[in-house]
Amino acid sequence: MSQNPETIKDLIGVGFGPSNLALAIALEELAQSKGHALDALFIDKQQDYRWHGDTLATQSELQISFLKDLVSLRNPTSPYSFVNYLHQKQRLADFINLGTFYPCRLEYNDYLRWAAEHFATQAVYGEEVLRIEPEVHSGRVEHLRLISRDAQGREHSRRTRSVVIGSGGTPKIPEKFTAFKNDPRVFHHSRYLSGLAKLPCTEGKPMRIAVIGSGQSAAEAFIDLNDSFPSVKVDMILRATALKPADDSPFVNEIFAPDFTDLVFNEPAEQRSKLIGEYHNTNYSVVDLDLIDRIYGILYRQKVAHQFRHNVLCRRDVEAVVATRDGLELTLRDLATGQQQTHRYDAVILATGYERRSHRDLLAPLQGYLDDFSADRNYRVLASPDLQASVYLQGFCETTHGLSDTLLSVLPARAAEIGQALYNDLARQHASQPALAALSRA
Ligand SMILES: Cc1cc2nc3c(=O)[nH]c(=O)nc-3n(C[C@H](O)[C@H](O)[C@H](O)COP(=O)(O)OP(=O)(O)OC[C@H]3O[C@@H](n4cnc5c(N)ncnc54)[C@H](O)[C@@H]3O)c2cc1C
Ligand SMILES: NC(=O)c1ccc[n+]([C@@H]2O[C@H](COP(=O)([O-])OP(=O)(O)OC[C@H]3O[C@@H](n4cnc5c(N)ncnc54)[C@H](OP(=O)(O)O)[C@@H]3O)[C@@H](O)[C@H]2O)c1
Repeated sequence: MSQNPETIKDLIGVGFGPSNLALAIALEELAQSKGHALDALFIDKQQDYRWHGDTLATQSELQISFLKDLVSLRNPTSPYSFVNYLHQKQRLADFINLGTFYPCRLEYNDYLRWAAEHFATQAVYGEEVLRIEPEVHSGRVEHLRLISRDAQGREHSRRTRSVVIGSGGTPKIPEKFTAFKNDPRVFHHSRYLSGLAKLPCTEGKPMRIAVIGSGQSAAEAFIDLNDSFPSVKVDMILRATALKPADDSPFVNEIFAPDFTDLVFNEPAEQRSKLIGEYHNTNYSVVDLDLIDRIYGILYRQKVAHQFRHNVLCRRDVEAVVATRDGLELTLRDLATGQQQTHRYDAVILATGYERRSHRDLLAPLQGYLDDFSADRNYRVLASPDLQASVYLQGFCETTHGLSDTLLSVLPARAAEIGQALYNDLARQHASQPALAALSRA
């Protein structure tokens, strides 16, 4: 164990993705208006700053306007805006010539990395936070202890008055594929680039690859395999009857405005889940329309040329998976006819989405103090009064705060709300400390 155990941070952020990076920016602004800075540290398990780095295929674009960057919606004059990034990199005029609101994700990754570099002294990379434990004194928890592990396997321990968990999604692996965890021929889309790098198609060898899923990740894998790997034949396998477009029309898009969070939060639970269900097709199991057009065009040109390289197999459920030395045999059931067919592939890419549950694992030692991991409007986890230290969530409140919660849309507003709430908490904690000290002496 390293670190001076007596040092107590005001805040430790778990993960330094866009959510906690936006918080670091908001805290810097708040420090100016409040006249003092919080002692904050952000811990990320990656060795350096990368935003979904293993999925950064060259053709992939941001799915949100660059104006919804880390800060502009709250403070358009901030030095951390995407526009200032372009200016600093001397690409602003060229970017304008592109005539787009949607930069490629490689560029957005570079923007986030550039912003994160400004907070290098507050960031620790290459450590995975394992758990968050209570430090109990006289039945109350004023401080939390974060245990993390670095790449060399060493454990580190740090104390803090509050925690903000922004650890993102966890790849969803369908049950039929869990047995293939260590088979390099089967991998989740979150490991797209490193997974592919181990396959013979990178040396131009012929391969048949199945892509499971009908969301944006599946579509991007299909396009990249088509464009970058001429020796690869792809079957895209989906349960839906068709690839469907993401609804990003302007009225619908208003659900991603920061104000909409109040509307969702103030609804009763039943109404909230109705709203989220109604707008599911803005984000999940859907694809940008221009990508759908590209995929359709590729399949149409195959028909013209009578050269059939790829398939989009709709209405298919994977019934069974058998691994042999020669490949992976997938038994697919047609959901309309019930007919089954077995196909052999050299690799399978699971573009099967993400779950939001890592906060539960991290907070398991605090479970006795928590109210089912739900949060108040300011994203503070509801807890018994004995838990004086505060815990905030970024990206785990979709059911209470709406569909924007897992996305980039509300980062500037959410970061400011959490930042302000942290200042309030710490003021309360400091105010109660003399009384507590007297209590413990008694
Ligand atoms: C491929 C892809 C593309 C996307 N594109 C868009 C888009 O264009 N627009 C949009 O609005 N949304 C998009 N999203 C949704 C995405 O959730 C958000 O863009 C954004 O990444 C959320 O930021 P975050 O910081 O909450 O989570 P993440 O970006 O997932 O960051 C979490 C960070 O926490 C770290 N971490 C995780 N666990 C630990 C731990 N135990 N200890 C230490 N560190 C840990 C991770 O290394 C990571 O850096 C995309 C999602 C994916 C998968
Ligand atoms: N360029 C970009 O900005 C970009 C790129 C990639 C992803 N993203 C974002 O990342 C988020 C996640 O997108 P995603 O495409 O990874 O996930 P997703 O939209 O959740 O889609 C997951 C897909 O996997 C399928 N699936 C899940 N479990 C399955 C199972 N057991 N068997 C068969 N199919 C299964 C789902 O099918 P059903 O519909 O049948 O359940 C769905 O088609 C979204 O917010 C998206 O916008 C953005």
